[in-house]
Amino acid sequence: MNPDDEFSEFGEQLRRPLDVKLSEFQRNGRLKHLILASQLDSELLERLRRMADMIRHLSRTRQGNLRLKGLLAHRRAMLYFTQPSTRTFLSFMAACQILGVTCNEVRDAATSSESKRESRMDSIRMFSSYFDVIIMRTVIPCFSECCAFLMNRLESASMRSVPIINAGSGADEHPTQALLDMYTILRTFSEDYTQESKPSRFVAQQSGKPVEAGPGHKTYLFCGDLGRGRTVRSLASVLSQYEKVRMFFVSPDNDVLRMERKLLERLRNSGVECEEFHSLDATIDGRPILEEADCLYMTRIQREHNSSVDEQNQSEMNLADFRITPERTSRMRSWAPIMHPFPRDSVTGEIPVSIDADPRAMYFRQARNGMWARAALLVHMFDASEELMEIYSNRQFHQAT
Ligand code: NCD
Repeated sequence: MNPDDEFSEFGEQLRRPLDVKLSEFQRNGRLKHLILASQLDSELLERLRRMADMIRHLSRTRQGNLRLKGLLAHRRAMLYFTQPSTRTFLSFMAACQILGVTCNEVRDAATSSESKRESRMDSIRMFSSYFDVIIMRTVIPCFSECCAFLMNRLESASMRSVPIINAGSGADEHPTQALLDMYTILRTFSEDYTQESKPSRFVAQQSGKPVEAGPGHKTYLFCGDLGRGRTVRSLASVLSQYEKVRMFFVSPDNDVLRMERKLLERLRNSGVECEEFHSLDATIDGRPILEEADCLYMTRIQREHNSSVDEQNQSEMNLADFRITPERTSRMRSWAPIMHPFPRDSVTGEIPVSIDADPRAMYFRQARNGMWARAALLVHMFDASEELMEIYSNRQFHQAT
């Protein structure tokens, strides 16, 4: 079936203004579904950060782990990932395991009844009969959003309905990656990590000149495939809510790879100072952009989306301008984390392994942060935050192992 026909019944709902849609994805001050990065406001991010910290802290002891495992042991999750994934899939699965959530998976539509011409919407509704949450990644941009509309429709008809979590929708959105990126940024630019952080953890304040706490008042440099990188789109949207944010977008000068015009306009309208460049060595007002950045967010070129024309164009590009090198990192601020959603491209080498030992290299910790942040998200969505806080504040068992 043509996907356009398949989702046409939701066309009108999809086209409504963002604020109307956002209110439908919330319930009683909590997320009912997580579909769009714009749902992650600063207050919610702070709440999730605190919960993620509690979970990581509790998981250091056997007793803490056992208590966490009981928290959502009565819940079941469906991981419907028909697009390749390593980190998002495994960290969601690990998050479920930490909280005692039982999970099952469909990773290839050919192994489901979609191969018998079942519509995708019927498959999703079927999952909702057996599971308590559907975590989904597909190549179709609007699919998870339509699933949330379907669940809301079922709920209004007093039928069974479960939360939908968008774990990557085509080249469009990746809100849970934005969540873990923000968790990493909040931790890096936080003031209160003295007693709980391990001495090796990189905290901006400890690495040179004091830098203003929090994500605001900072310059973020995004580099790579900004046109098709959904992680950049989602993170930039979330960061745009903070004060005095400047964003530098470094990509090849090419319609496919540079930042989408509409998104740039939206960011500018929300007060972000945006500048575009075509090399990491570019300057602004005579100063190298690398020296101005408080955070560097690298991405790979998403070759799987290439047409043969794109392939041809890219084979003629000099991608060296979009790679970091020890020489380039030596010019960066001592407090600027180097982030990447991963996977990195081992052939293009936008971040060579020689950078991994740099204390600012955040990407492996960023990936691990995804597990804690996604666990916190599940606790929040299943309304178990108070129970988590109770377990956390009742920590005599921390010393038990
Ligand atoms: C990203 C994705 O799938 O969008 N990976 C991830 O979820 N960590 C980035 C990418 O594939 O380049």
